[in-house]
Amino acid sequence: MEIRHIGLNDAVSGMLVAEDVLNDAGQLIFPAEARLTEKAIARMRFHSIAGLSIYAEGGESLPPVEEERESYFEKLRDSEEYVEFNERFDDVVTAFEQEMMKAMKKGINTDGVSMSNGVKKILGTCRSGIQVFDLLHCNRNYEEVIYAHSINVAIISAVLGGWLGFSNNDIDILIQCGLYHDIGKLAIPKKIVDKPGILTPEEYKIMTTHTTKGYNILKNMNVDKRVKLTAMLHHERCDGSGYPLGAVERQIDKYTKVVAIADVYEAMTAPRKYRKARCPFDAIKIFESNGLALFDTKYLMTFLENIAMCYMGYRVKLNDGTIGTIVYMNRQDETRPMIQVGSEYIDLFRSPKLYIEEIL
Ligand SMILES: [Fe+2]
Repeated sequence: MEIRHIGLNDAVSGMLVAEDVLNDAGQLIFPAEARLTEKAIARMRFHSIAGLSIYAEGGESLPPVEEERESYFEKLRDSEEYVEFNERFDDVVTAFEQEMMKAMKKGINTDGVSMSNGVKKILGTCRSGIQVFDLLHCNRNYEEVIYAHSINVAIISAVLGGWLGFSNNDIDILIQCGLYHDIGKLAIPKKIVDKPGILTPEEYKIMTTHTTKGYNILKNMNVDKRVKLTAMLHHERCDGSGYPLGAVERQIDKYTKVVAIADVYEAMTAPRKYRKARCPFDAIKIFESNGLALFDTKYLMTFLENIAMCYMGYRVKLNDGTIGTIVYMNRQDETRPMIQVGSEYIDLFRSPKLYIEEIL
């Protein structure tokens, strides 16, 4: 079939793409042999893609395909990529649980390196940091919260470490820090950890001890000392308001600072028995309103900017029920992008009463 190069302005939903579309950094924006959607075109526009190669099927421009009404995430859940991601995720959850049971009951040393290799295999199924968040979003059906949460935090920490320019060695350590950060919860009564509601002050006090308990579990194990420290310090906050020590910014190491952000984001955006998952834009808003004094500012801003970009081109529902597509991110406020609704545009930055309620 003839291949034609076209400008992005001539790209139409439904065209069959002939070559991978990459941005200036070499990151894959859209794969070859797939058909364009409005969402894909919006994402290319955002990445300043000038043009792309398509197969000239019949020489005419194709009629636009009906933009999918099925949720993007429902489609993703049916994809081979997700199936592979989910299989590897399940394998790591099982291996991690067995490893931790051996460690807790028999005092057998945990093998942090082999556990982190499992997480790297999960990451290997994802084409980009952006796609990791899509796949994680689909993968929220784990009843048991400690292991799945820990693996998610390890994955998010690795991606954030990459965005921050951490070395591969540092990212390996970050993965282990994420995996083991909440390990102390295994030493907290299950009825408190799994309580489907707000903890009483006494229960909360017991729960806070998972930091020191985690450190003590790992203390005599053959695990990197930075991993042990993260278990102890991941609830410390830069303004000194955290626990167990009330440590301040300069006393918290960079690995713990990354894991702290990943931990809070994961907890906010994961569903719990007593509440729905928060919309990522809601989580970003909460971080922007309350997080700047609590977390490392540079790390947090890098995280929020990149996370918001992940949702470029997504269909979203606004609080007034309007459904549209994110077509432009607002640098002044990542939670208030430009939304395209049919041929109209809504600038959320200039529409203070509207906000994104749900990603579809
Ligand atoms: Fe924790």
